[in-house]
Formats: sequence, C-alpha cells, structure tokens
Amino acid sequence: MNLNLTEKVIIVTGGAKGIGEGISTVLAAEGAIPVIVGRNEADNQRTVEALTAIGAQSFQIVAELTRPDECKKAVEQTLARFGRIDGLVNNAGVNDGVGLENGDYERFMQSLHKNMVHYYLMAHHALPALKASKGAIVNITSKTAETGQGNTSAYAAANGGRNALTREWAVELLPYSIRVNAVVVSESWTPLYENWINTFDDPKAKLDSIVSKIPLEKRMTTPEEIANMVVFLLSSKSSHTTGQMIYVDGGYVHLDRALT
Ligand SMILES: NC(=O)c1ccc[n+]([C@@H]2O[C@H](COP(=O)([O-])OP(=O)(O)OC[C@H]3O[C@@H](n4cnc5c(N)ncnc54)[C@H](O)[C@@H]3O)[C@@H](O)[C@H]2O)c1
Repeated sequence: MNLNLTEKVIIVTGGAKGIGEGISTVLAAEGAIPVIVGRNEADNQRTVEALTAIGAQSFQIVAELTRPDECKKAVEQTLARFGRIDGLVNNAGVNDGVGLENGDYERFMQSLHKNMVHYYLMAHHALPALKASKGAIVNITSKTAETGQGNTSAYAAANGGRNALTREWAVELLPYSIRVNAVVVSESWTPLYENWINTFDDPKAKLDSIVSKIPLEKRMTTPEEIANMVVFLLSSKSSHTTGQMIYVDGGYVHLDRALT
C-alpha cells in the first residue's frame, strides 16, 4: 500500500524516545519528514542520526512543551525550515502518579500541563498550516481515561481530555477536511513504562501479572505496532476516518475478562 507520505512534514512531540521514536522511525521509512519536538537535545539528535543512517530525512527542535511559548516556537521553527506542516502527532506525556489522596492542586495542574495543555497548544498553533495542507492530527492517549489505574488522577483526567479533544476537533475541523483521530495505548515497553513499573515493590512480578492478562499473544504492544496505526491515520489511505479512538492494545481494554 502506498501511503503517499513522501516528503510530508509531520510534527511528532516526544518523537525521540519510546512510542514517539517508533512513530518517527515508521514515518521516515515511509519517506515522510518527522519533525521531532522534545526537551532533550541529545535524545533528539540521537534519533535524527539514527534516521540519517538509514538514509531518511528528519529534523529536531528542542522544546519544553509545558511552556506555552515553546509550543508556539516549535511550530514557528517547523514553518521556518519547511514552510508547511502536513500532520501533527501529539504524543509527549508522562504517567506521573498524582493521586486523589496523595496529590495537591499544584501537582495536579502541573500534570495537566505535562499531558494535555500542550496537545491543545500544538494543534492551535499548527492549525493555519494544517488548513493549508488539509493535514491530519493524531493524538496518542492512554487506556487510563476509561479503565482508571489508581493513584494517577491528573494523568487519567488528561487522557480523558485527550480523547474528548479528539472528537471535539474532528467536529470543529470538518470544514477544512482535517481529520483527527486518537490511538489509545495500554501496555507498551518504553523508557516511561520502565520507570513506571519500577515504582512497584516487585517490578518483575507486576509486569508478569500485566502481560499474562493481555489477550492477544500475552505480550506487550511494540512502539512499532502503535506507530503503524498512527502513520496509517496520517496518510491519505484513511481519508474517511475521523473522530475515532483506535485501541492498539492486543484486546486489553475490550475483550472478555474470562479469556485471561
Ligand atoms: N508506554 C505505554 O505503555 C503507554 C501507555 C499509554 C499511553 N502512553 C502515552 O504515550 C505517550 C508516549 O509515552 P512513552 O511511553 O513513549 O514515553 P517516553 O517517556 O518513553 O518518551 C516520551 C518522550 O517525550 C519527551 N517529553 C515528555 N514530556 C515532554 C515535554 N513536556 N516537553 C518535551 N518533551 C517531552 C520525553 O523526554 C521523551 O523523549 C505518552 O503521552 C503516554 O501518555 C504510553
């Protein structure tokens, strides 16, 4: 299938590591130009070099996305370099454990900035360019919006917000033929996931218990499997798909509990 993504300029927030790195890599393999926006220049540069080594184009921008001005600058720098934006993948975030009982106002609000506010700001600033290109938006979101997880109120709320924004923008952007979809992730091994699992007393036992409950093949979803769906949703091959939440999770959220 030709995804028609050659030379398309796609912003990927958090595109240097984990799921974002997977998305950058699959985009590059399809001939697109991923613009990696992340806070750590060395991480960004390492991914750009890995893509250059396979003969692919990419670009990196250092930005701390919890700072509204840096979201705006990241879009401006993309336009200064390429003059166009064909897609936006909102992906950067962190499951930061701000609970109901153990949390407080400041940490709750900070977490919303880490996980949701920059999704809005990146889409807001990229919108004129996306209107010009009839580009697409994909929001990466977490199962926690629907299933809960315990002790992570702000992250769950942010993911509920990410899902709601996906539907809301799909409606608002209909007149511009800009499609907006979400890819919902459950369990994917990334630096973030490794940090999270290490917060348990016995990380290996916790991991084994989770993996044993993933219906399809009792294994985690790879970043590449998530990326493949994201890249399809960015491409013209999904030209009549909008406002959808697509679960790339081996059936973890929806299949019969009796299976496990
Ligand atoms: N890994 C999972 O199992 C899982 C499950 C559900 C949802 N998700 C979602 O997937 C997304 C990516 O997760 P991951 O596991 O790949 O994470 P990760 O930490 O492994 O990689 C995220 C990258 O984004 C960057 N980043 C994060 N916040 C940033 C900020 N404020 N400004 C600039 N850069 C920032 C990090 O430095 C890192 O390079 C997150 O939004 C998370 O909610 C992941």
